Amino acid sequence: MGCEGGGVTGVAGLGSDWGRTGIVRMQLMNSAERYGVVAQTLHWVTLALFVAIFALAWIQDGLPLSPEKIRLINLHKSVGVTILVLAVLRLAWRWFSPPPGLPPGMADWERRLAHASHVALYVVLLAQPVIGILHSAAANFPVVVFGLFTLPALIGPSQEVKEVLENAHHLLARLILALVVIHVLAALRHHFIVKDSVLTRMLPLMGKGRGE
Ligand code: HEM
Ligand code: HEM
Repeated sequence: MGCEGGGVTGVAGLGSDWGRTGIVRMQLMNSAERYGVVAQTLHWVTLALFVAIFALAWIQDGLPLSPEKIRLINLHKSVGVTILVLAVLRLAWRWFSPPPGLPPGMADWERRLAHASHVALYVVLLAQPVIGILHSAAANFPVVVFGLFTLPALIGPSQEVKEVLENAHHLLARLILALVVIHVLAALRHHFIVKDSVLTRMLPLMGKGRGE
């Protein structure tokens, strides 16, 4: 995670900005200025899955025990496992293709805060699904991913452990919401107040961002 500062640019002849024809040319890899298509896709798909998993959590929470509730919980678990897989892929991709460095002119404290918030987001992206998976095992329920395969139970059934993990899952869900709100406000501040390229370089089809 400490590898910010730009990486391999372009791949297979793909550039990063608008061509003379006006057709946007995209790059797969991250460059010194922008996130590439792979990192952008993983980021925005994760956001979509986050919206879905919180919506599922709130709907399933309000239902009485029923086949419908169990169906939604199973879907919630599958989406959560997908978020975990995407988080691992994102970290691997980040290592393979380092993300752009932060724009010049940012104060030291701001850089440290940005870095710390990204680390925190990755930690919760990994921790929350792992806690969910362990919670299911402690509750003696299988995790069947989209009806395709069942994850092995990593711990045995235990009412005590189940309760601890359930509380942790609930608490972390609130922490995630708080982190994401701060993250979004920071992105909007960069775009509308500081007016730098931090938001546009994570957006697809934006070409070169401000100050690049
Ligand atoms: C990043 C991924 C995840 C997020 C953001 C998330 C979020 C949530 C939220 C907000 C709730 C409702 C909590 C409440 O009522 O206060 C919940 C409940 C639950 N989650 Fe997750 N979850 C994730 C991943 C998983 C995974 C991977 C599993 C299991 C494989 C899982 C299993 C459950 C279960 C069984 C419940 C119901 C617990 C209960 O009975 O209250 N979650 N989750
Ligand atoms: C509307 C919602 C969101 C917006 C506008 C947004 C915006 C951004 C922007 C602009 C960046 C690039 C920051 C930079 O260049 O330094 C970024 C990075 C990041 N975002 Fe978001 N984001 C959103 C939702 C989320 C969600 C839901 C998560 C996961 C919980 C998340 C996790 C991350 C992470 C981990 C990074 C660092 C990527 C890396 O460098 O590897 N974001 N986001």
